Amino acid sequence: MVDNVVDMAHFFYIHFAFPTYFKNVLEGHVATQYLRTKARPDVAGASNYAAGGESTLHSDASYFGPSYMIDNLKQDYQGMTVESVLTNCHYPVTPTSFMLQWGVIVRRPPGLSDSQAARFGSKFAKFVGVGFEQDVAIWLNKTQIDNPLLCAEDGPVYQLRRWYEQFYTDVADIEPDMVARYEFEIDTTQPVAGWEAEVAGNLALRRAAADESRGAG
Ligand SMILES: [Fe+2]
Repeated sequence: MVDNVVDMAHFFYIHFAFPTYFKNVLEGHVATQYLRTKARPDVAGASNYAAGGESTLHSDASYFGPSYMIDNLKQDYQGMTVESVLTNCHYPVTPTSFMLQWGVIVRRPPGLSDSQAARFGSKFAKFVGVGFEQDVAIWLNKTQIDNPLLCAEDGPVYQLRRWYEQFYTDVADIEPDMVARYEFEIDTTQPVAGWEAEVAGNLALRRAAADESRGAG
């Protein structure tokens, strides 16, 4: 689950968004992911990451230790900029499973009555939850590979796992390289260009199929 901190590519495949900026900072017991995305035009409204149109999302997410993350989110949503915070925590309960808990809080937009704000908050929190559950679906089906073969855009998986080794161990056994400051920014220009071509292809196929069914009908 913690591997997600460095996983740039899953924002395209799992959350249906282009990651236009992606950087990790590991230091001490904190591991942070700084992310900007814009929605995929071929998959609209699927989650908070892909709200459709020209929508963008800013996400600054930090693990404070091995078991909980706080994700500060700011995004375009129906013409507004909405701020929210997603928290999740997970702790091992058996050698092969975790207890996972999560919650969302949404900043109240100005000018809404109490009942409108309550409706808005619960609707928006569900929308953020759709994005989170896209990750959960993966976690339920993935297995750990200790020595993954990485490609250029995979992010600092090994450094993150080294950071994680400072936990569930004796303090005396923490090595300097587990806690040293480490920064890594992925240049997403090239992968995003490739994905844009893929999305353009999807849209062209869809248009062709629509034209064909109009022709047939
Ligand atoms: Fe994710």
